[in-house]
Amino acid sequence: MNLKSSNPKQIAAEQAVEYIQDGMTVGLGTGSTAYWAIQQIGKKVLNGLQIKAVATSIQSENLAKELGIPLIPFSEVEEIDVTIDGADEVDGAWNLVKGGGGALLREKIIASSSKQLIIVVDESKVVTHLGKFHLPVEVVKFGFELTRNKLSALGCEPKLRMVDQQPFTTDNGNYILDCDFKQINSPSECHDAINNIPGVVDNGLFIGMAARVIVGYQDGSVKEL
Ligand code: 5RP
Repeated sequence: MNLKSSNPKQIAAEQAVEYIQDGMTVGLGTGSTAYWAIQQIGKKVLNGLQIKAVATSIQSENLAKELGIPLIPFSEVEEIDVTIDGADEVDGAWNLVKGGGGALLREKIIASSSKQLIIVVDESKVVTHLGKFHLPVEVVKFGFELTRNKLSALGCEPKLRMVDQQPFTTDNGNYILDCDFKQINSPSECHDAINNIPGVVDNGLFIGMAARVIVGYQDGSVKEL
């Protein structure tokens, strides 16, 4: 018996994996939705799918290793054919907020070198305006208090991300400031204004990068946005 999952994240992720073909170089996303894509890729690799992969976080790299997905160093990557990743928010123009899991920098580096970025989300992530989810901004540790002041001046409330009462450190050794903008009306302008601040490494706005957005619904259906 092959019971189909009714987990919206899982069904969206599994549909995205159908776009992967033999010979492709695949970018592995990060988070609880990308997890299901990596699991499904692992099953397909076990059944003979021939791919090479790169991961957007140490967490996803470790999962890929456990599942036997062949990983290659970036020096061997010419182009990434398809990357499957999650998002924290997606608007109608497919602009994204990412970085809830703290992997936004590696995710953006890999997305920007991918022919196709497929975003997989459950229906709760689809929004009319970005900004309810606090925008993650990766900053260097040095002088982060000053960087935080400059971010505040853009009209948001930035908070240093903490885990177990310690500042969260990214895979790249930086901090994350989660910025409450309430509503982001001009995602592109907001992206550029943030990245112009010295000390900012990158922010979680992904503008015009998604090639497909696959949404899983509570009723078990899955649709492309
Ligand atoms: C990690 C990310 C994730 O893709 C995003 O936070 C969505 O995660 P999830 O699928 O667990 O809801 O950007 O940095």
